[in-house]
Amino acid sequence: MAVISTFCKKGGVGKTTFIGYLGHYHAVHGKKVLIISVDDQNSIFKIFGEEDKIFESNDNYLEFLIAGHAELGDVLIEVRENLYLIKTLNTDKLSMKLTLERNQEKVIKKIVQEYDNYFDYIFIDFPPSSSRLTEVLLDISSTILIVVGLDSLGLGGFFNTIQYFIDNDIDIDGIKYIVPNGYSKNRRAPKISLEKLIEQGREFTPGAIVLPALQDKSIIKNLQAEGVSPFDTVKLERYDQNAKTILEKELTSLFQKIEM
Ligand SMILES: Nc1ncnc2c1ncn2[C@@H]1O[C@H](COP(=O)(O)OP(=O)(O)OP(=O)(O)O)[C@@H](O)[C@H]1O
Ligand SMILES: [Mg+2]
Repeated sequence: MAVISTFCKKGGVGKTTFIGYLGHYHAVHGKKVLIISVDDQNSIFKIFGEEDKIFESNDNYLEFLIAGHAELGDVLIEVRENLYLIKTLNTDKLSMKLTLERNQEKVIKKIVQEYDNYFDYIFIDFPPSSSRLTEVLLDISSTILIVVGLDSLGLGGFFNTIQYFIDNDIDIDGIKYIVPNGYSKNRRAPKISLEKLIEQGREFTPGAIVLPALQDKSIIKNLQAEGVSPFDTVKLERYDQNAKTILEKELTSLFQKIEM
């Protein structure tokens, strides 16, 4: 199964942004892509300017599928060509259900397996909080990317994430890539954090590749405010258009380094 997850115990480090862009990149290259949001904020919809679709309908949450009240196709929300999202209603409640009813674990694994027959890639967007739901889904992920913010809190988040894997007996070898986010040429702190992260990666996740750092870029915030992905073909005002083209090129070269 090609199940790719972005995870980190620290919030706001760019997990959703990264997985949204990675998913869209593959979709524009002809792959059939599904992104499951197990974060009930469903912020993945915002990456594509499709927040309205979260509230448009009330009967197409992941929970309905798990409960058997919906079919596989019923909960898919198309946001771009070849790109589908699934939304979650209540992450904590869903996790509680998995904790109390062991057979529900099999149900959710089977659902992902069945989607695997229809999609080339299944991405999972996690919240920063962790729960039984997180463990079950990380266990079946073939590729885990840990997104790390390049500051001292971000590094702490990386460390907590490794500890979380150890405490819950999740295979650390599942972590294939580390994605440093928030680099800046002009600031010293992110550079120092990156050096430390590379060192810590060598020690704790020797099997993982540390990808080139993603820069802190205002164009990312601008695009998300407009609901535009770097892989959309739209006309923006000149400054943003140039920045978007550069971002698209940088992301493309980064994504080509990720084997799935
Ligand atoms: N490289 C970047 N440069 C500038 N802004 C960024 C970058 N990456 C992410 N952001 C911004 O940071 C904020 C948090 O990003 P995002 O929602 O992807 O993080 P997250 O880890 O998924 O957060 P959460 O833990 O809440 O799920 C967003 O406003 C996003 O636009
Ligand atoms: Mg997120």
